[in-house]
Amino acid sequence: MSDNKITVLYGTETGNSELIAMDICSAGEELGLECENFGMEEIEHDDFASFNNLLIVCSTWGDGEQPDNAVELYEFVEGLGDGDLSDTKFSVLALGDTAFDLFCEAGIQWDNVLEEKGASRVHDRVDCDVDYEDDAEEWIESVLKVFS
Ligand SMILES: Cc1cc2nc3c(=O)[nH]c(=O)nc-3n(C[C@H](O)[C@H](O)[C@H](O)COP(=O)(O)O)c2cc1C
Repeated sequence: MSDNKITVLYGTETGNSELIAMDICSAGEELGLECENFGMEEIEHDDFASFNNLLIVCSTWGDGEQPDNAVELYEFVEGLGDGDLSDTKFSVLALGDTAFDLFCEAGIQWDNVLEEKGASRVHDRVDCDVDYEDDAEEWIESVLKVFS
């Protein structure tokens, strides 16, 4: 895999995160960046540590829980050793709803676990409310500059 390739993984129940993942790759390709996106349930767990430039877009469901398609991958990453992701640069876009007590909890968990396993946060996490479009667009523009 090319060192510069951006991998976007989305955790979603109703598709918002998937749409954003597609927007990231369209914007990235316009900048001449190589970009691929996958649902979190689609990837082989053993490939995870090879995603050097990783963008996570993840909503929160239930009561502060991971969306269904993110649960198994999240558990796998939780089980990695400290330092296993030392070649990974990452940033997280969290989707949620401020009406819930555990606002954007799943995205917060991703942000924390990636750092815990040795990955480097290259851009601050952004937590989006239900009207996520403007915040997401701003994060995409800003985060892609890091990888340009
Ligand atoms: C049943 C239900 C439970 C939800 N639980 C939470 C929650 O605990 N915390 C939060 O911040 N947002 C919560 N949300 C809001 C979603 O994360 C938000 O609508 C998000 O944009 C959905 O993105 P997705 O289509 O990618 O899944 C919930 C929404 C629904 C419908």
